[in-house]
Amino acid sequence: MPSEKSVFQPDGALFRQAHVSSVEQYKEMYEKSIDRPEEFWGEIAKEFYWETPISRDKFFRYNFDITKGPIFTKWMDGATTNVCYNLLDRNVRNGNGEKIAFYWEGSHPDDYSRLTYKKLLEEVCKFANVLKSKGIRKGDRVAVYMPMILEAVVTMLACTRIGAVHSLVVRFSADSFAERILDCEARVLVTVDGTWRGEKLLQLKAICDQSMIKCAQKGHNVETCVVVSHLDRVTPPQGMQYNSNKTPMTPGRDVYWHDAVPQASASCYPEWMEAEDPLFVLYTSGSTGKPKGVLHTTAGYMLYAATTFKYVFDYKPNDVYWCTADVGWITGHTYAVYGPLANGATSVLVSVKFATGGRKSFGCVPKLSEWFRTVYEGTPFYPDNDRFWVVVDKYKVNQFYTAPTAIRSLMKFDDNLVTKHDLSSLRVLGSVGEPINPEAWHWYYKLVGKERCSIVDTFWQTETGGHVLTTLPGAVPMKPGAAGFPFFGVLPVLLDESGKEIKGEGEGYLVFSRPWPGLMRTLFNNHDRYETTYFTKFPGYYCTGDGARRDADGYLWVTGRVDDMLNVSGHLMSTAEVESILAEHPGVAEAAVVAKPHPVKGECLYCFVTTTASASFDGRLVAALKQTVRERIGPFAQPDVVQEAPALPKTRSGKIMRRILRKIAVNDRDVGDVSTLADSSVVEMLFATRPQGA
Ligand code: WT7
Repeated sequence: MPSEKSVFQPDGALFRQAHVSSVEQYKEMYEKSIDRPEEFWGEIAKEFYWETPISRDKFFRYNFDITKGPIFTKWMDGATTNVCYNLLDRNVRNGNGEKIAFYWEGSHPDDYSRLTYKKLLEEVCKFANVLKSKGIRKGDRVAVYMPMILEAVVTMLACTRIGAVHSLVVRFSADSFAERILDCEARVLVTVDGTWRGEKLLQLKAICDQSMIKCAQKGHNVETCVVVSHLDRVTPPQGMQYNSNKTPMTPGRDVYWHDAVPQASASCYPEWMEAEDPLFVLYTSGSTGKPKGVLHTTAGYMLYAATTFKYVFDYKPNDVYWCTADVGWITGHTYAVYGPLANGATSVLVSVKFATGGRKSFGCVPKLSEWFRTVYEGTPFYPDNDRFWVVVDKYKVNQFYTAPTAIRSLMKFDDNLVTKHDLSSLRVLGSVGEPINPEAWHWYYKLVGKERCSIVDTFWQTETGGHVLTTLPGAVPMKPGAAGFPFFGVLPVLLDESGKEIKGEGEGYLVFSRPWPGLMRTLFNNHDRYETTYFTKFPGYYCTGDGARRDADGYLWVTGRVDDMLNVSGHLMSTAEVESILAEHPGVAEAAVVAKPHPVKGECLYCFVTTTASASFDGRLVAALKQTVRERIGPFAQPDVVQEAPALPKTRSGKIMRRILRKIAVNDRDVGDVSTLADSSVVEMLFATRPQGA
């Protein structure tokens, strides 16, 4: 790959004052974090408040070897603290009470507000008292179904303050939400009447009602449902309105936020939690069946979120930071809420839930570009395709964190949409969620970052709690598409199929041989599944499920999920590799590749291609794409099928569901659970338009 040879170093002047400013400094700190974890994390812990101090001899214990007994990880066992106290009270006491914690922007650009640390603390205490008055105690679960509004953050921290365990769910169907409420036996649900997504009205409370009915049928009654009256205070899209009397409320169970919260006391003593007490549960899709309730605990998660945020974004006290992820995803948890607040940071929180309306069902699609807009929820096209850059300019954002899929969808528009805004405040550009293809990397680097900024390609998972592989801005030179090196405390290993370690250059399973503070501790109520999913394939290691390659310089390149590996005629390649080549073609907006069984080759490549608005999908394009892959990877890699995909089946976080594409490739309509899809009608559309003879 040519990109492997290109190494980029951002503008030195921007990073002279960086927390880590050279490779040597990174190495020194990394070695300390591995050789003397007590010392490394112990020094960081000193910046936080501990009600019961940390004891040196119980600082760090774990077992990763299933053959030796149950898997466990404990950090700072025996110490007690409160995460909310450390995020809010500690910052207020340090004189930052009047500092802005969040700038908030609504779906409509006319709607915005801000919250200082002091005010946030008051709101959190009030809501914590409301939760207490509803009988919520330490350890109880609270389910949250909210859009990107400040009350979502208030709710999370109110739970944290009293030791309740929050579980946020982002816009799943009523059925999937019910499944999650039942799994964690949530006693309280917090939601909103509804929200505008562009021109579309989403009535979230009505969905919650359906979920609560389903739960009741299974014998679980949600005791209290708190409803934020959100639609009344925001600007509806032109020509639209909402009558708030229409929100269904069940007396005795449902209560409006504005009826309960303002009168509650603004002081609430924090609950001192054991270091290993649960902090939150977050559901993530497993490769099969039931969602997994990933459980994170108190002290380790706090330290890890705080430390990764500080170093990976090179956050300085006067910076303004913006993470575009929804708070309901792990990225939002760690890098829109816990990490920034632990550093006393100022963040932008934007409720851009995008899509400009239009029809969702197949057969009513006016234009391909409309499809693209409608089905993808993760990028801001409202009110215009430059909303990201408008916001960066408006708040003078220094660190911007988004996903490759968002970058790819934006880079197809006119460059002018980016260049007409002043983006000179930017210093660090983050990427997360999937390997970033070099083409998107270069666009991000050149057009958005003006070749001055650092790009941090952060590899991590819901399970890892925070970044585990990334380059550090200013310190470590970047290679487009490489995640780079381990964060402090993280020990990555590559294994071959037989479990043997691959030293030096090579490709294999990406695993970790010991826990860092932010690693999940279990799956909620299902420790067995935790052990089998992550620790049985290779005893002694946490298995990510991803493959990675180490190059001659030691950089790690995540190649994608291991089940996204293709083996064509004995040649191993990652789907991501092929996709990134396809995406480089000017006519291609996005591509997804899966393996299809083949009688001679074992497997062959089946490619789904979304064209740009101006390109047309025809025989010439197909031939050109096949030829390019052939040229770039090798004759064996030539795709057998290229299918036009006006849209791809994606989760709400924008992740392509390849499991479904594999079914389409073999024309097997037994696709299984599609509840995590942003738009399930895409699946039917792709089945209906399979090329002849495929
Ligand atoms: C999976 C985890 C972590 C927050 C968002 C996703 C893929 C994530 C990268 C990256 C290559 C990446 C992996 C991983 N992934 N970041 N920078 N480079 N792959 O969280 O839903 O738990 O997904 O996303 O495949 O296993 P998640």
